[in-house]
Amino acid sequence: MRIGVLTSGGDAPGMNAAIRAVVKAGIARGHTVLGVRNGYEGLLASDTVELGLTDVDGISRFGGTLLGSARSKRFPTPEGQAEARARVAEIGLDGLVVIGGNGSLTGAHALADGRPCQVVGLPGSIDNDIGHTHLCIGVDTAVNTIVEACDRISDTARAHRRAFVVEVMGRASPYLAMRAGIAADADAILYGELDEDSTVASLREVLKRSFSDARGKKRVLIVKAEGVTVPTARIVERLAKFLETDAPGVGIRETILGHVVRGGAPSALDRLIAQRLALGAVSALESGQHDIMMAWEAEDGVGTSTRDPSVRAVSLEDVLSETSRMLGGTSATSSGRAGLMAAYSSLLAL
Ligand code: F6P
Repeated sequence: MRIGVLTSGGDAPGMNAAIRAVVKAGIARGHTVLGVRNGYEGLLASDTVELGLTDVDGISRFGGTLLGSARSKRFPTPEGQAEARARVAEIGLDGLVVIGGNGSLTGAHALADGRPCQVVGLPGSIDNDIGHTHLCIGVDTAVNTIVEACDRISDTARAHRRAFVVEVMGRASPYLAMRAGIAADADAILYGELDEDSTVASLREVLKRSFSDARGKKRVLIVKAEGVTVPTARIVERLAKFLETDAPGVGIRETILGHVVRGGAPSALDRLIAQRLALGAVSALESGQHDIMMAWEAEDGVGTSTRDPSVRAVSLEDVLSETSRMLGGTSATSSGRAGLMAAYSSLLAL
């Protein structure tokens, strides 16, 4: 087979490990593997390179993506997709592995229509907002990066007796804020649709209590999800005013971690997930599967099993409808996460 592989959308740590595993498994089984540069933009330009074993030697330890990534404006249009199908035929691909997040997998499903070649997706996004996969490639590293950053911030916060509001990426998904916030001993985690006045009022109480003589805390850490629309600077400005009277001498600062969260050496777990999903993708192509995503630890009964007990093949259609339910807050996964968080929230600010 001639197997193409591309990375698309926001890069995620572990994408290189996935590329390497597609190349290694592909070559080991007698296929030719072509890397498509810069996501769908590269596909539209037939910008490919044949990948050999030496090209991918030792790349799993690097963040980013060897192939480059892009958010294509042309590809999502009907003309762009027709063009992409023509390019698939021109390059002579039998199969294409698309590694990316929600937008990229939506693109993969659209491209799959008419079967220009077999299309298999892998979930790669720090946001963890893809349906039917317990984890996406990149999430574990991003969580660890946030926790490390919060630990560093906590050191300086304690030295000065300060509160910090730390905003973390995740687009509309609160997953990184929730998971990293708990691991970093946050005193409050902000996610979802929040009313500014009641949020500020409840954070004021957290600060008052924490910095009171009775409680005597030296630092307060508030982790805020990017998707919360109240601006971080506004929350900090309003809390700073209250602190002047509630806890004189205590300061408050903000840190927006931004793209720091997306880079860095992938964790062992991300490398492992990436490699096992990629191996599953090559096997799925060999067995003629199409328009699917390889999922990590999908719920029982979802999709079909593979030789790897943690990897299941789920139709992209099912993945994308579950993704919309998750983002709309109506899936069992999102309500389960919110329920766990609510149960945990009362412990945060003790
Ligand atoms: O989807 C991954 C992500 O890092 C989001 O968490 C974030 O909102 C967005 O991408 C940032 O996109 P860009 O790199 O295009 O600014």
